Amino acid sequence: MKATGKNFVITVDGPSGAGKSTISKRIAARLSLIYIDTGAMYRSVAWAALKQGINLTDTTALDQLLSNIKIRFQADDDKNLVFCNDNDVTTEIRTPQIDQLASAVSGVPLVRDALLPLQREAAQGCPAIIDGRDAGTVIFPEAELKIYLDADLKARARRRLKDQAGSSEISLQSVTQAIADRDAADSSRAQAPLRMADDAILIDSTNLTIEDVCEKILQLFHARFDKHEEEPDHE
Ligand code: DC
Repeated sequence: MKATGKNFVITVDGPSGAGKSTISKRIAARLSLIYIDTGAMYRSVAWAALKQGINLTDTTALDQLLSNIKIRFQADDDKNLVFCNDNDVTTEIRTPQIDQLASAVSGVPLVRDALLPLQREAAQGCPAIIDGRDAGTVIFPEAELKIYLDADLKARARRRLKDQAGSSEISLQSVTQAIADRDAADSSRAQAPLRMADDAILIDSTNLTIEDVCEKILQLFHARFDKHEEEPDHE
């Protein structure tokens, strides 16, 4: 894929709670890109495994689940609806139970191998922004613009707690611990661990607003793509 500004990929990786999905959705809206939430794909597998009572160590059952799974996204105003096997799972995949199960699911090589082609296919032929942990390192190593969005653990936990304000008795301490555990699991797994791609641009959002981060990404985008737009296409 060439950086012609017509067809390109932006990847946004980073740890939990850094603001990847909020920011990616806004950038998608501003630049008319399709938004691919790869975390929602792992969450959907976790949801389906839970529904079907499949243990993650049962590779035969998991293999069968993966060969039949259908995951699709549907943009709906500012929402990104997620469907798994034709069920709207948008809300159900955001529970603390699925947070944990998705993290475990994402460490299973069989699952990663099955989702990789689906993630690439989802962006086929369309300018896209991909939100994940390994979007810039594994899914789209040739992406034209790679962002690594980080923030300190306390700031990320506070944001998560705010998002989960409806769900009562969760404390800042337990959210901080849950995020730290997920960070550790995501960064230490053998296959496609969370890490910043060598050619990614680091944005630390600890003291930035969502709009500040979007502006930075848009500036990077325009600096890179407006220049290419003016160049002849030597494909
Ligand atoms: O971004 P999220 O919290 O919705 O992701 C859910 C889980 O999936 C999280 O534990 C990390 C994992 N994940 C991954 O391993 N690779 C990705 N590309 C995206 C998410």
